[in-house]
Amino acid sequence: MSLRSFSIAVAVAVVSISAAFGQIVAQPPAASAPPVSAPPALAPPAAAAAGKAKVYVPGLEQFMNAILMEHNKLWFAGRARNWELAAYELGEMKEIMGDVQDFVPVFKNLPLADMLDAVIVKEIADLEKAIAAKDGKAFVAGYDRLNAACNACHQGTENGFVVIKRPSAPAFTNQDYRPHR
Ligand code: HEC
Repeated sequence: MSLRSFSIAVAVAVVSISAAFGQIVAQPPAASAPPVSAPPALAPPAAAAAGKAKVYVPGLEQFMNAILMEHNKLWFAGRARNWELAAYELGEMKEIMGDVQDFVPVFKNLPLADMLDAVIVKEIADLEKAIAAKDGKAFVAGYDRLNAACNACHQGTENGFVVIKRPSAPAFTNQDYRPHR
């Protein structure tokens, strides 16, 4: 699930919880019920009381850490020549970059959305081609060029201390990156 759909899911959940609270609070006592002392009323969430649900938007570093995770998986999928999985991980990374464009288009007065666009149409597109062609060499070269693009943006945004490189080990050992069909 992309972070965007995750945020929407959270928003939907918050709205339905608020709606549920509204019902509980608004329900009149059954007509036949004897007059008992009212149970402690459930306080509606502050957001519901204000008439709108709060929507959680992840910070840029959270998007970036999600990108880092896909970036790690992408490497091991590509090295295992699991092209279907590699295409999937790259697609997910691209989706998160799209989320960044939507949610953090400008960062410290820098046009982050446009800067990401340059990477999407060049380095990401080249990797997509390498994966579609099942070309291991082009994949490795394209992956290194993507890393250079990650680092170029980090330098250009005064985050040059964030350095991306080829992973030496999978971040997760409970996912099998080998092709299985
Ligand atoms: C268009 C610019 C841009 C590109 C391209 C970019 N990043 Fe970033 N990245 C940033 C910015 C800006 C920050 C600092 C975020 C902050 O300070 O909240 C960052 C921070 C990070 C962090 C640090 C997060 C943390 O909490 O440690 C990681 C990891 C990261 N990026 C991974 C990547 C990877 C991997 C790529 C390439 C696949 C990439 N980034 C491409 C702009 C970019």
